[in-house]
Amino acid sequence: MSATASERLVGAGIRREFPIFETATYLNSCSQGALSTRVRAAAEAWLDGWDANGAEWGFWVERNEAFRSGIAELLHASADDVAVTTSVSQGVSALVSALPLEGERNRIVISEYEFPTVGQIAHAQELRGAEVVHVRPDTSGVIPVERFAEVIDERTALVCCTTISYRSGHRNDVAAVAEHAHAHGALVLADSYQAAGVLELDVRTLGADVVTGGTVKYLLGTAGLGFMWLRETLHAELLPTQTGWFADEDIFAMSIADYSPHKSARRFDAGTPPVPSLYPGVAGLSLVHETGVPAIEAHVAALSGRLLDGLEELGARVATPREPELRGPLVCVHSTDADALVSALAAENIVVSSREDKLRVALHLYNVEADIDRLLQALSRRRNLLA
Ligand SMILES: Cc1ncc(COP(=O)(O)O)c(C=O)c1O
Repeated sequence: MSATASERLVGAGIRREFPIFETATYLNSCSQGALSTRVRAAAEAWLDGWDANGAEWGFWVERNEAFRSGIAELLHASADDVAVTTSVSQGVSALVSALPLEGERNRIVISEYEFPTVGQIAHAQELRGAEVVHVRPDTSGVIPVERFAEVIDERTALVCCTTISYRSGHRNDVAAVAEHAHAHGALVLADSYQAAGVLELDVRTLGADVVTGGTVKYLLGTAGLGFMWLRETLHAELLPTQTGWFADEDIFAMSIADYSPHKSARRFDAGTPPVPSLYPGVAGLSLVHETGVPAIEAHVAALSGRLLDGLEELGARVATPREPELRGPLVCVHSTDADALVSALAAENIVVSSREDKLRVALHLYNVEADIDRLLQALSRRRNLLA
């Protein structure tokens, strides 16, 4: 598709597919992507097929593989390096179950910007002898690479370095962190839930060994479906003890007598594929692919620049850095009462969310400049709720 054609698939050009914009200014893709007519149709197709044919196993497995291939395309990867998961939590739990944390290399380093699930899974490994080390941001909110470097050594098994912070919008320098980790033989996990579908993620240059995410947010699908990419050289060496029959080398062997994980990243799949989520997941992904991530990223960068300019004019205290390379689609603004601000904006049909003392404004392919201007006007009327 030419750049011009894909540019038409952002902003006003794509909005008609998302009915919520008829009534609301939707700026909440960091929580849940907006529902499109094609994702709704896909969810209905699942029910229609069930009604008409009962179990459609062949088609379910085909949807599972279509999702795997779609994610591979998104990440510039091979489908054999992608596991289909039911959540980030499932994938990461299986990943750490494959790490021999009882020995000398028992340290898990986590950035302070990890989503709770990653921190909780890391700390759960303390029961197996792991030591968890947190890497905290400096006063500007950035986590300098040197902070990671200070704590990564020969004892480090895994470094968890999320791509974009779900609570401040900061972007971590995954590639630079990975360089330090790899020099000491440690693996790097980049939870990219807040980036996948809106920022170009190329596993050939990202630096991480494992990349995970899911379909609830910028991939425009629903809950119950995620992915985990693993560097090809890791497949044979990682033996997940948290597993299931869809991770077996031959699902149809139906053996209860052994553990024979698949030779590809499918060894990190688990049980029955998440069928109700696969239909919307594949449909949501098709929207992202049709437009193309580079066009989405450029569109969102222009909108976030406009938003940051407007917030500066309002004198708001913005938590997300101004530099384009330090942020993504999420802009977070300090508030004196973030929940009250979210409610006040909701009363004007502006949908945003909050974390701690911050308002979260998330931009995606379907947003337009008028959304930003509407939000800024509403915020200027609620200046008392901005910190
Ligand atoms: C960065 C990030 N990771 C993970 C998750 C969710 O993880 P899970 O798929 O396990 O619910 C979210 C959001 O809900 C997120 O923002």
